[in-house]
Amino acid sequence: MDVKTLAARKGEHNMKDYKEAYEKFDWESVKSQFSWSETGKVNIAHEAIDRHADNPDKKDQVALIYSAPDREEKHTFEDLKFSSNKFANVLKKYDVKKGDRVFLFMPRSPEFYAAFFGILKVGAIAGPLFEAFMEQAVRDRLEDSEATMLITTPELLERVPLEQLPHLKQVVLVGDHDKTSDTFIDYHKEMDEASKDFDIEWVDLEDGMLLHYTSGSTGKPKGVYHVHNAMLQHYQTAKWVLDLQEDDVYWCTADPGWVTGTSYGIFAPWLNGITNVIRGGRFTPDDWYSTLSNHNVSVWYSAPTAFRKLMGAGAETAQKHDLSSVRHILSVGEPLNPEVISWGMKAFDLRIHDTWWMTETGGMMICNYPAMDMRPGSMGKPFPGIEAAIVDNDGNELPANQMGNLALKKGWPSMMRAVWNNPGKYESYFLGDWYVSGDSAYQDEDGYFWFQGRLDDVINTSGERVGPFEVESKLIEHEAVAEAGVIGKPDPERGEIIKAFITLRDGYEESDELLEEIRQFVKTGLSAHAAPREIEIKDSIPKTRSGKIMRRLLKSWELGLPTGDTSTLEE
Ligand code: PRX
Repeated sequence: MDVKTLAARKGEHNMKDYKEAYEKFDWESVKSQFSWSETGKVNIAHEAIDRHADNPDKKDQVALIYSAPDREEKHTFEDLKFSSNKFANVLKKYDVKKGDRVFLFMPRSPEFYAAFFGILKVGAIAGPLFEAFMEQAVRDRLEDSEATMLITTPELLERVPLEQLPHLKQVVLVGDHDKTSDTFIDYHKEMDEASKDFDIEWVDLEDGMLLHYTSGSTGKPKGVYHVHNAMLQHYQTAKWVLDLQEDDVYWCTADPGWVTGTSYGIFAPWLNGITNVIRGGRFTPDDWYSTLSNHNVSVWYSAPTAFRKLMGAGAETAQKHDLSSVRHILSVGEPLNPEVISWGMKAFDLRIHDTWWMTETGGMMICNYPAMDMRPGSMGKPFPGIEAAIVDNDGNELPANQMGNLALKKGWPSMMRAVWNNPGKYESYFLGDWYVSGDSAYQDEDGYFWFQGRLDDVINTSGERVGPFEVESKLIEHEAVAEAGVIGKPDPERGEIIKAFITLRDGYEESDELLEEIRQFVKTGLSAHAAPREIEIKDSIPKTRSGKIMRRLLKSWELGLPTGDTSTLEE
């Protein structure tokens, strides 16, 4: 379908009537879309790739358009089937088995996707890591998951402390290198030798496929564990919320190191057999607009931070590009502010559709559908088959317009099934039958949900979730830092920025150089997005009598708000 026809189709949607869909829909009905409902044999890699590659009408369709400043490639469904089969054969040769954790630490590239599906095809669990992670962040995740294999590039290998990772037996290197020990496997050499035929490992719907590490307010990042069953939700939300239709060209801007980049950057489009654009390389407004226009992207899923950056580049930048192919734009990760919605109206003549969900939910939960009346500023309504409510701290449902904890009735298809090696943490998410999100919100009389903020200390900076504990732990590793407390401080462009309060050890004096050195220490040790943009030195950090840092109090001081109950404050 050409661009004109696509544009003309604005207004025709997969879901016609939200109310009717809500009344009639149940998740069981989605199963019939997949052959396993008859055979009982399942693997999400088969459903996303091989199923289309085995269909004579679909096998030559472009599945992946890879676009980076120095590399442009197109891969059909058949190409992806064969490349992932080859990688699955490599894994088998090196004895990777069902349930093993195999991590990926590399930039987006066609090799990434071949490896990712190869991992799923042997029944192993994939752990994609954001390429900007530094040593500590990489180590924490590989250590906790006890990953036995890592796929990375020779450049990124420098951030992998192999000697501290006894479980990690093998490293696959994608790119030129001079490593000779048996630990290292050369990606291209092995792929050249591997067969393109592979007998996929059929698994159970409840078998694991993915680990995404994410931050809470306490402790190190937790491994959120997802199973093959999640495909039901990826598939159906792509139909009704992304509104993917046969000739669409779809682009999700998220990195697969984050859940949006897997659920909606990989599974949702390919389960539906849709052409998917993957963009590598760094962000520039011109590159992003060119990606939309050069590939005739029709459905676009991104985040408020990215929209704000494009907005900041001005209307002239947008006007240089033909953006007429775009018919539907969606957003996730942070509140979608009104300025962004009006920018979308001006630049694309489209209303950006907000969606709300989390790493733990695995898929979209509360959304704005093309088929419903939107209320600007609202996250929308629960997806059909999802029950959402606002509850108090005991799990009692609250009436309309009352603020409380946004909760979801447990049992949706893409719900996390465990926190890796941490059943206690998993249990702590639930109050009876409710999964409690940690977001505060209210629901209006007509059932629309309105986001208010986080109830815990989790920071959302540029749409990325950062746990204060992780940053505090890194800060106190610096020789000058005695104590540290970290908060999110509101920021017009990034949503929040990270602000650290520290006390200095004896013998250290405050100076700009020292503060910059501490900032760099977090940036190069943990990751750029976790480095505090502001550091303030204090004489002491407020703590409870049991020694917990009172971040709430730090935040109140910072914002000039009343400090509330401080009865637990230590002397
Ligand atoms: O606070 C909410 C915010 O992002 C958190 C989840 O972060 P993460 O697990 O990294 O997943 C992000 C993408 C799926 C939520 O607890 N959040 C997500 N979507 C929205 C949002 N805040 C406001 N509006 C949204 N649409």
